[in-house]
Amino acid sequence: ETKIWKVDNYVDNLEKYPQIIEAAKLLQQNEVVAFPTETVYGLGGNAKSDEAVKKIYEAKGRPSDNPLIIHISKTSDVDNFVTEIPEHAQTLMEHFWPGPLTIILKQKQGVLSTVATANSATVAIRMPSHPVARAIIEVSGLPIAAPSANLSGKPSPTNFAHVALDLTGKISGIVDGGETGVGVESTVLDCTDDIPTILRPGGVTKEQLEALIGEVRVDPALVSEDSKPKAPGMKYTHYAPNAPMVLVEGSREFLQSVAQQYRDKGNSVGILTTDEQLDFYVADRIISCGKRAELSTVAHNLYDVLRKFDQEPIDIILSETFPENGIGSAIMNRLTKAAGHHVISEHHSQK
Ligand code: TXA
Ligand code: MG
Repeated sequence: ETKIWKVDNYVDNLEKYPQIIEAAKLLQQNEVVAFPTETVYGLGGNAKSDEAVKKIYEAKGRPSDNPLIIHISKTSDVDNFVTEIPEHAQTLMEHFWPGPLTIILKQKQGVLSTVATANSATVAIRMPSHPVARAIIEVSGLPIAAPSANLSGKPSPTNFAHVALDLTGKISGIVDGGETGVGVESTVLDCTDDIPTILRPGGVTKEQLEALIGEVRVDPALVSEDSKPKAPGMKYTHYAPNAPMVLVEGSREFLQSVAQQYRDKGNSVGILTTDEQLDFYVADRIISCGKRAELSTVAHNLYDVLRKFDQEPIDIILSETFPENGIGSAIMNRLTKAAGHHVISEHHSQK
């Protein structure tokens, strides 16, 4: 049975929230519980316990070669899990933690469950800023391994209903803290080299990182379909709604003409659009994921919109594309994966 704890407006008044203490106690007993972070909901477990971590992989149906992010509540904890902290990593932690940045460093062996880190020589660490996540980690007194709290392959959960749909009956509890903020996952940054490399674009942008520490690379696998990604998780089909999805590059008139071609063949067509274009299209289901002029709103709503299409009898989803700077690069990364790299372009030959 899965317990549900509702925590509205938690700031740091723990005495009024016995739910948080109860959730933390279950983590100490090597049970797994889902809780909100500022990016997406996480499914947490004691990162020192093989038993706890195995429950995470099992509940999600996650391949065991895909390591988990270790969540901490204070920067000084990092020393326990890594062999050294390079200067750029130190600067990044001071500036972006707590927040949506995951830093990969060389792992100190023998401390964390080897199941949690999939026997890796490195470890991914993040300090979330969401008050509920921070309180749960702090009260548990443990490093908490936490992937996104969705079934493997599904869009990450950004509200309680998403988690409940995927994991009810499979985990010990869910802390319901309402909607998450950023809406896409943390940026995963490999800091084991002199020049850090982004393995997954996310809540902290490349521009923000470079403004602080200078040159930052991007894993070639994020740009070309043919290279092997350095973050094991990036190789799996991810974020995918049930209906096949196609990204349509070009004008809205072009997208409408593509939609019409599918409809003429008898398909029920969904369109993923933005507030600015919402009234333009004619299709079977048209959903806006936010304001094109304010891409953070698109990131915030993206996964909820992908899941909304699953509630409709839709044969195909056509999506607008977004500029690949700022948070747009995380949005396009998730959309491209959701579409299985299927892109139709107005100006180039079909991919
Ligand atoms: O925002 C987030 O990061 C959320 C919340 C819950 O914190 N967590 C999350 O975890 O997105 P997950 O497991 O869904 O994604 C973790 C990503 C995967 O792509 C995984 O392969 C990569 O981080 N990763 C973890 N450890 C790694 C390592 N040692 N080396 C390279 N990639 C690693
Ligand atoms: Mg995930």
